Amino acid sequence: QKDIISISEFSKDHIELILKTAFELKKNPRTDLLKDKLIGVTFFEGSTRTRLSFETAIQRLGGRVIGFPDAANTSLGKKGETFMDSMRIITSYTDALVIRHNKEGAARLAADISPVPVINAGDGSNQHPSQTMLDLFTIKETQGRLEEISIAFVGDLKYGRTVHSLAEALSLYNARIYLVSPESLAMPQYILDDLTKRGITFSVHTSLEEVMPKIDILYMTRVQKERFDETEYQHLKSKYILTPETLADAKENMKILHPLPRIDEIVSSVDDTPYAYYFKQAANGVYAREAILSLVLNKEI
Ligand code: CP
Repeated sequence: QKDIISISEFSKDHIELILKTAFELKKNPRTDLLKDKLIGVTFFEGSTRTRLSFETAIQRLGGRVIGFPDAANTSLGKKGETFMDSMRIITSYTDALVIRHNKEGAARLAADISPVPVINAGDGSNQHPSQTMLDLFTIKETQGRLEEISIAFVGDLKYGRTVHSLAEALSLYNARIYLVSPESLAMPQYILDDLTKRGITFSVHTSLEEVMPKIDILYMTRVQKERFDETEYQHLKSKYILTPETLADAKENMKILHPLPRIDEIVSSVDDTPYAYYFKQAANGVYAREAILSLVLNKEI
């Protein structure tokens, strides 16, 4: 069984195999790799990209899907069934389970009792490993390499699970990391400790302009509204707003990534600049998730 729960469990070889498979599937689409497979896709927290790109990946590869986009109308939501009992039932019907939950550690709990592989599609502010695979795919696609990339993470580094997972993955590739956030949304200490242990050079900033000329990738994030009360959210949102003017000193091939959804942190006129790559990044989610699903179900190509 091959669960995909946290980037900390990945070696560089694992990541390289997933990326190689994803590039191959983008170049030469397949329709048969999940034939006869039934995948559970269960979302206990809202999603557009992750759920729909997993479902697209499954259907394009010839598999079938059961599940729910919102647990409100399940027996867990309506009748008080426990999370663990719900997971036992769904994993007894399916060949693999994709799960998103607002609680950190939920995917791990599901994996502990599941007889089939479990893929974490985001657990609270903890991890989002399939997003990391599409982010790495996109960095390699745009920069031609993953080694020694200079990257700025901007915005909500405290609660942004995509940032937590990607920083950890890039530490395997000797990245130079710039952390740009208000002090109250700083990267958690346990991640900084991990980067230090791995010998990664990082620095902490409040100004985006001062790091702009140095970076290959600008990774914007939204303030995670769902993890704050309204007053605190109103105070913290809109701290970093990217405009074409902010990009004046960017390197020629610098690319802007964002896990999306964006709220107001990238103005729409940036979409027309050669730096914007976030919509292509989201489209790459299908190939990364096709690769993950194929490999966890033992379909190497
Ligand atoms: N990037 C991402 O996780 O988007 P969704 O919340 O729409 O799935």
